[in-house]
Amino acid sequence: MMGKIDEILSQLTIEEKVKLVVGVGLPGLFGNPHSRVAGAAGETHPVPRLGIPSFVLADGPAGLRINPTRENDENTYYTTAFPVEIMLASTWNKDLLEEVGKAMGEEVREYGVDVLLAPAMNIHRNPLCGRNFEYYSEDPVLSGEMASAFVKGVQSQGVGACIKHFVANNQETNRMVVDTIVSERALREIYLKGFEIAVKKARPWTVMSAYNKLNGKYCSQNEWLLKKVLREEWGFDGFVMSDWYAGDNPVEQLKAGNDMIMPGKAYQVNTERRDEIEEIMEALKEGRLSEEVLNECVRNILKVLVNAPSFKGYRYSNKPDLESHAKVAYEAGVEGVVLLENNGVLPFDESIHVAVFGTGQIETIKGGTGSGDTHPRYTISILEGIKERNMKFDEELTSIYEDYIKKMRETEEYKPRTDSWGTVIKPKLPENFLSEKEIKKAAKKNDAAVVVISRISGEGYDRKPVKGDFYLSDDELELIKTVSREFHEQGKKVVVLLNIGSPIEVASWRDLVDGILLVWQAGQEMGRIVADVLVGRVNPSGKLPTTFPKDYSDVPSWTFPGEPKDNPQRVVYEEDIYVGYRYYDTFGVEPAYEFGYGLSYTKFEYKDLKIAIDGDILRVSYTITNTGDRAGKEVSQVYVKAPKGKIDKPFQELKAFHKTKLLNPGESEKIFLEIPLRDLASFDGKEWVVESGEYEVRVGASSRDIRLRDIFLVEGEKRFKP
Ligand code: BGC
Repeated sequence: MMGKIDEILSQLTIEEKVKLVVGVGLPGLFGNPHSRVAGAAGETHPVPRLGIPSFVLADGPAGLRINPTRENDENTYYTTAFPVEIMLASTWNKDLLEEVGKAMGEEVREYGVDVLLAPAMNIHRNPLCGRNFEYYSEDPVLSGEMASAFVKGVQSQGVGACIKHFVANNQETNRMVVDTIVSERALREIYLKGFEIAVKKARPWTVMSAYNKLNGKYCSQNEWLLKKVLREEWGFDGFVMSDWYAGDNPVEQLKAGNDMIMPGKAYQVNTERRDEIEEIMEALKEGRLSEEVLNECVRNILKVLVNAPSFKGYRYSNKPDLESHAKVAYEAGVEGVVLLENNGVLPFDESIHVAVFGTGQIETIKGGTGSGDTHPRYTISILEGIKERNMKFDEELTSIYEDYIKKMRETEEYKPRTDSWGTVIKPKLPENFLSEKEIKKAAKKNDAAVVVISRISGEGYDRKPVKGDFYLSDDELELIKTVSREFHEQGKKVVVLLNIGSPIEVASWRDLVDGILLVWQAGQEMGRIVADVLVGRVNPSGKLPTTFPKDYSDVPSWTFPGEPKDNPQRVVYEEDIYVGYRYYDTFGVEPAYEFGYGLSYTKFEYKDLKIAIDGDILRVSYTITNTGDRAGKEVSQVYVKAPKGKIDKPFQELKAFHKTKLLNPGESEKIFLEIPLRDLASFDGKEWVVESGEYEVRVGASSRDIRLRDIFLVEGEKRFKP
């Protein structure tokens, strides 16, 4: 292979090489032509005389983002809208993530794309990051395992995946310039860890360096990050591309190991726009950049892209199997629903009549905005799902909602607008427009109420700790209060559906209602998923990949989104390694719902924990039995609590997890897990250290519902090089 690459390299002129490391410009914008796959985010320069085609790169991660229609073309190019990543992570199901990856990978290949710009895998440092919906978790092990399975699935289809945004891009506010100040320990144990797992386990073709600076240097210009950590330590052998328009110096990018500059044709130096190709050519001429550095970048890129469909001349069909992918999207969504509260109200009996409240029943949010948006053939709203699954619902009430939405969307204030990614943004409607009389009537007529609460967020901005965003708005709260009062007066129950992409505040109002289902933003199959879970045709088995804090003031990342507050230039990660449950557990702060939490319509018993050290491996086995009266799946989690030693440790850390198969009532599954001892190490500033002493293995149904525990001894400290 290297012989072939070197042969191509020797035939390329300097200018051709420079063009290979710079994209052709943002397709379809700023006067650039569309990519041959309209709507793709990027394309590379071809070298026709050597048979090197242009390669196409397009976004994920909730589905392949390309334009669904093209000018003067009757064909359509719809793709499948899968659940957002936070929901995929809520499944804790690696096999399912691989299936989602395969399905998406097939669409990538069959629509003529070479690299999918997914998965995104930044850590949920703060619940308000606008892109948390397209990131997996607050925990690096869950995030890394989900990403690995997804990458394997995508790449099994002969196309590439791209793990992004490398690294510590944990906010949208000033993301292109903000300097993230974070200790090497927190970087290694939290922010880099998931990427490390994915690189080592799944060998992604590409990595996307992040916009932000990391300890003073742009990630795309950070040699320590891209060369030392990624390539030397982890053995990454694909290529690195910049995020779109990232950094301020293309020459420094190449030198630092950022092999490809995307989307190309213009970077910003103060206010002047310059072309990277000219700048790199000049640097080569003046000796500011050596040809060897350029060759290395080209080599890294070609090594990967000679395996891509475009290089092989693959004849794509433009007809991916959307029907079967819809089923995968449904399965993934169903397993990602998290049952947060249930005082016996759920599942509904199929014969009951429900009154559905909330505009989100009609204007259901399928996913977030920005590059992570998708253009599916359809999105089944919650109401459509309820209808399609033949649930009996209050049609009169629903038509009041339909009229209200129609009327409001015609007004100037609430008119939908289209953003720069082609997403239709609908300003949030007031939810308290029904009269008390109307609600009373519904309470008399129906057997139960469902109230939909929706949120949307996306690329380019963070959420806010205010009413209507992190908190319920006054009108939403009024709706929940009135519906609960009127239905409870009639001895009837109320369920809230949370159609959201990241945590909101629930602790202050959850006791008003009888059940809460976190249905996230489930993609095109949303309504079907919701209806099937409501009536128990499927049993919810999702668990939280991120903590729901009681209040925003409890969140440990108090420096978010940096200083100065009105225009942050710097954000110091003062909480260090104490991110998510590592903080709440260590410092005794009670969350609303802890990491790993989720109820089921059945019950599970945990027993027979056995642990053993076998060389460098900790072996853990235990048995889970379904002791309830419905079939269901259970996500169990293995946490390890380290002894008090020289290095401060979090109370406990997730080291492994497992989702059972569908267990019938009375059925058991024996689970065997292996944890390399190295994974128990903390970073002491130089090396990974497993300190000697007594460790506790804690097997739980959540991080705070530990069912089994046992201890083992590590005799003598163990050290590992990074
Ligand atoms: C986003 C990336 C995306 C790229 C291409 C950037 O703005 O941060 O996630 O892949 O655009 O669309």
